[in-house]
Amino acid sequence: MKESLELMKNKALMAITQAENLEQLEGIRVQFLSKKGEVSLLMGTLRDLPMEERPSFGAEVNLLKASIEEALYDKKQILEEQALAAILEKEKIDVTLPGYQFYQGAIHPLNQVIEDVEDLFVGLGYEVAEGPELENDHYNFEMMNLDKEHPARAMQDSFYTDENHLLRTHTSPVQARTMLEKKGKPLRIICPGKVYRRDDDDPTHSHQFTQIEGLVIDEHITFANLKDALLTMVRHLFGHDRIIRLRPSYFPFTEPSVEVDVSYQKKDGTLGWIEVLGAGRVHPRVLEMGGYDPKKFQGFAFGVGVERIAILKYKIDDIRHFYLNDIRFLSQFKGVNR
Ligand code: DAH
Repeated sequence: MKESLELMKNKALMAITQAENLEQLEGIRVQFLSKKGEVSLLMGTLRDLPMEERPSFGAEVNLLKASIEEALYDKKQILEEQALAAILEKEKIDVTLPGYQFYQGAIHPLNQVIEDVEDLFVGLGYEVAEGPELENDHYNFEMMNLDKEHPARAMQDSFYTDENHLLRTHTSPVQARTMLEKKGKPLRIICPGKVYRRDDDDPTHSHQFTQIEGLVIDEHITFANLKDALLTMVRHLFGHDRIIRLRPSYFPFTEPSVEVDVSYQKKDGTLGWIEVLGAGRVHPRVLEMGGYDPKKFQGFAFGVGVERIAILKYKIDDIRHFYLNDIRFLSQFKGVNR
């Protein structure tokens, strides 16, 4: 019996020494130590022995078991270390190799202007409003005080989809929509969005462009409030040395109406003016149609062309650059304003 114990021990230890990987080692463990393994079977032969030999035999088998367990444990440490070393070797990283180039997009310059103006006005307590691009004739014209015969409709050659619907020619219909929504309560909004006009003759004009509309309605609103809002916007966009000039103009939805110029320094050092937007005091008819009592409420409104702002701000020579999606053009605006 002793001999068979010794034999089994040698056999097990030899196998463990020769094991080349963790799977083989686990196989050896199962072969000797599992419930039906060779050591357990040996233990089963205990009852065939005479009573007096059983305790010492049992102790021997336990010793055998312990020494196999120990050898398995030691070998396992070695094999695990080897496996890790092999992985490290295989996955070695050469940190001196050049990295990958990840292409980073840029925010479109028109959207940069819109976000910039939104940030400014939201900071001043305005809400950002939106309206549909396919607009009802009623909101686009009637509610803006342009009835069917109004000559100013011709100024805004439009794309009709049926008798009553058109691609909005300006962002002003959002004024009407917001007024009706606010049901006579004071409001201040800005509304950025795309607008559409037919423009057959001039190739430098786009049939689609972008505007930002502003509207404030409250009690005690004066022209000074309008001037303040416009100057704040102009200086935010172009710098604090700029001044503005208001020239009388005409829009059906405002009375009085103005055209707004921004100052710039000419090459010879003198002051020049560039027209940037239209504005005015909200026409009493527009207030009335929007559900506001013009005796109690006043308002001001303005409409800015976003392309025009971007052209001046970034010194762009042709409006068509904005729509061609040429990455060489667009990638110049990475990190501008941010
Ligand atoms: N809607 C005008 C246009 O498209 C721009 C405009 C002018 C908007 C004066 C206004 C305003 O709100 O008060 O040409």
